[in-house]
Amino acid sequence: MASLGVNIDHIANVRQARQTVEPDPVPLALLAELGGADGITVHLREDRRHIQVRDLELLKATVKTRLNLEMAATKEMINTALRVVPDMVTIVPEKREEITTEGGLDVASNEKALKDIVEQMQGIGIPVSLFIDPIAQQIEAASRTKAAWIEIHTGHYAEASWVQKPHELAKIIEGTTKARTLGLRVNAGHGLTYQNVEPIAAITGMEELNIGHTIIARSIAVGLKEAVQEMKNLIQNPRKETLFGITQS
Ligand code: PXP
Repeated sequence: MASLGVNIDHIANVRQARQTVEPDPVPLALLAELGGADGITVHLREDRRHIQVRDLELLKATVKTRLNLEMAATKEMINTALRVVPDMVTIVPEKREEITTEGGLDVASNEKALKDIVEQMQGIGIPVSLFIDPIAQQIEAASRTKAAWIEIHTGHYAEASWVQKPHELAKIIEGTTKARTLGLRVNAGHGLTYQNVEPIAAITGMEELNIGHTIIARSIAVGLKEAVQEMKNLIQNPRKETLFGITQS
């Protein structure tokens, strides 16, 4: 059964829209935990458009579950992670002009640099996850870096039409199986919603889903704790009729 990492970046987005102090993602992370979040995820971007260093430091002191730091593979971020020591680091590609993370890391072309970062982080006990597309070449490269985890990018699945979704889902299932065969642990995320999450949650061997925008959006209507509870329930009890008829052992 997959667990739920709640990405709270969009709470900070609302705060930064007015460059003020509210809403504060730090105390609200507790509400997400009370709703059943198994972990809290934040992306500290180079341009600081939402999460700030202050948020990361306070979350490190207050999160009771697990704190997952999404970050680019830059010197500044590596030093921040080594200083704050989150429970996990997820390395993502980052472009200044993008609205959100647009694709997976090209691990295959940057294997040596990523391997060095993994060694540095895991050497002091911070497990590293690499955010990648479900492509065999990238999964094999991720395994060679010795990262403990990958996070499979579900953006293409999320954006695909309902006709194309089973095809994208099959790629994620295949990628998960391959990664686990190579000894990697597997998370997934990006673009998951209350409407499309169940088939991903039902994948055999899928450990954690990182979900942000849809939960924060729903929380405006029903409250954060309730929005997290609803998502957790879907993840833990994916309905058979939503799984496109795909069965797994
Ligand atoms: N996983 C990763 C690596 C991400 O970059 C993001 C977006 O910050 C998410 C998960 C969550 O995506 P969403 O907000 O679309 O749920």
